[in-house]
Amino acid sequence: MAEAQGLPAPPPVGETALKSGTFDGIAVLITGAGTGLGKAIAAEFARLGASIVVASRKEEHLEAGRAAIEALGAPVLTAICDIRDADQIARAFDEAEAEFGLPGVLINNAAANFPVPAEDMSPNAWRTVVDITLNGTFYCSREFARRHMAARTPGSIVNIGASYAWTGGPGFAHSAAAKAGVKNLTETLAVEWGPHGIQVNALVPGLFPHEDMTADIRSSLDRTHDKDGVQPALRVGQRQELGWAATFLASPYARFISGHTLVVDGANWQRRSLTNPQVVTVRDQMGKGPFDPGASR
Ligand code: HXC
Ligand code: NAP
Repeated sequence: MAEAQGLPAPPPVGETALKSGTFDGIAVLITGAGTGLGKAIAAEFARLGASIVVASRKEEHLEAGRAAIEALGAPVLTAICDIRDADQIARAFDEAEAEFGLPGVLINNAAANFPVPAEDMSPNAWRTVVDITLNGTFYCSREFARRHMAARTPGSIVNIGASYAWTGGPGFAHSAAAKAGVKNLTETLAVEWGPHGIQVNALVPGLFPHEDMTADIRSSLDRTHDKDGVQPALRVGQRQELGWAATFLASPYARFISGHTLVVDGANWQRRSLTNPQVVTVRDQMGKGPFDPGASR
């Protein structure tokens, strides 16, 4: 492929596509903003003037999120919150309102995922991932919309999805099904809440490796050594590219975009043909050995 150079690299971290001050005076609540993509998205909002609310479970993640935003000189609040619990979400919004006023933007970024063959997945493993990824997204959206409808103020929600919402995700049945639900929910809520001034969109990242990836996800990815070469773009995503897309969707320049799912993956999910590589079972891909009905219920 000597003549193929792939999609060009993006501008470096620190550049902004929108006008400086686009989010002045606006608070943005981002779930899971202490790690990985959530942290990168938060940084792009902070660069454009937003106050940031980092909401997640673990103190060390909250502190990492706080440090990243403080380093940019933007106001930041951390709120301990498990998005499976509607009361904890309401408390996080109360804290955010007390500090900055009602957040004008909600980024539903937090999610749960680990690779496991479907036949080995316990009911509680399924429940946990669906509860965080799909139910948590709904509970946070509901809290945000109810507060805006009561205050008669507009708002913007961006849900973070995944492309296996369309294709299915062998080895990730729970997460793929939950993300399909998130995509569908985006479309329903956009229609229900549009009349109340609330936009609802989704953003689907392609492959964006980062240092905070859980050991489970990393070990799954590490089975592919050349992660750039398997992408049509001949490169993986850079986190600022996702942050720019999120800030655009929540900006005044995208007010008429709602119910849309924007895929930022260099066309990777369309890479399919009638002669794909040899079929390898999920068990074999994961080095699991034969199914043992006694090993899990
Ligand atoms: C099989 C597993 C498992 C694994 C957990 N479980 N890990 N089963 N394989 N690797 C099972 C447990 O045995 C238990 O079921 C159930 O799941 C709940 O586990 P807990 O540890 O009790 O849950 P909890 O403490 O709530 O933690 C949630 C978690 C954890 C999802 C398990 O990994 C987490 O907190 N993740 C948050 C971050 C995350 O997942 N990030 C990934 C997003 S990346 P039993 O039956 O034993 O009780 C993403 C990328 C998509 O989505 C695309 C990537 C390429
Ligand atoms: P990550 O670093 O593992 O982040 C997940 C975040 O979710 C963590 O900050 C975690 O914080 C938070 N979280 C998990 N469970 C929670 C709960 N119950 N309540 C509140 N917060 C919770 O993952 P990532 O790679 O940045 O992924 C971010 C988003 O992008 C996810 O929606 C993911 O599905 C999507 N995505 C990522 C990729 C990729 O290549 N990275 C590809 C496709 C889609 P705490 O542990 O502190 O709670």
